[in-house]
Amino acid sequence: MRIDIISVVPELLESPFQHSILKRAHERGLLEVNVHNLREYGLGKHKQLDDYQFGGGAGMVLMAEPVANCIDDLKAQRTYDEIIYMTPDGKLFDQKLANRLSLKENLIILCGHYKGVDERIREQYITLEISIGDYVLSGGELAAAVVVDAIGRLIPGVLNDETSALFDSFQDNLLAPPVYTRPAEFRGLKVPEILLSGNFPAIEEWRYEEALKRTQERRPELLDE
Ligand code: ADE
Repeated sequence: MRIDIISVVPELLESPFQHSILKRAHERGLLEVNVHNLREYGLGKHKQLDDYQFGGGAGMVLMAEPVANCIDDLKAQRTYDEIIYMTPDGKLFDQKLANRLSLKENLIILCGHYKGVDERIREQYITLEISIGDYVLSGGELAAAVVVDAIGRLIPGVLNDETSALFDSFQDNLLAPPVYTRPAEFRGLKVPEILLSGNFPAIEEWRYEEALKRTQERRPELLDE
């Protein structure tokens, strides 16, 4: 998979993909993330990217032309499955959407800034708008990093244990069960006996019951879906 991220603050995206699982995804040739500095497409000698909004009101708006030129350049090089815009009024990101996007070949992610981008870009170029939650960030970069992380680890071959993503929270609308590691007793607190039993069908059953219990307690609405 190839992901092209368009940003006004590319520095914010320097580190997130260079560690741990996403680093491995890159090393295995499974995920390539390219961050494009929108400033390079800025207009005039000041490389202008934003302007006042028509009709008045506080806050600057990302101009259509630099964004259109940047997307046009990318589209001239390959076909994109989705052109995504990160925005608080987009579709709420969840595991289901992460699963769907992890099967794509080429994605563009446009990070919003200031008051947002000129609506004509959203109408003419954007195929999917994503929000990572009901709160407002100062820009779309951290949201884009969340989306890339969530989908990157789902690309087949990225996780060592192919099954482990299948047991993530949300994968089947259940939160994950509790986990323990050594020592079996820590400050008097013991690991549940069943996990030490070696009885794997019984362990699976216990995990399922715990996941169900946890979901019931914390996110009961997931069980209705
Ligand atoms: N940009 C600003 N806030 C955002 C959010 N909650 N999700 C996605 N992009 C954003």
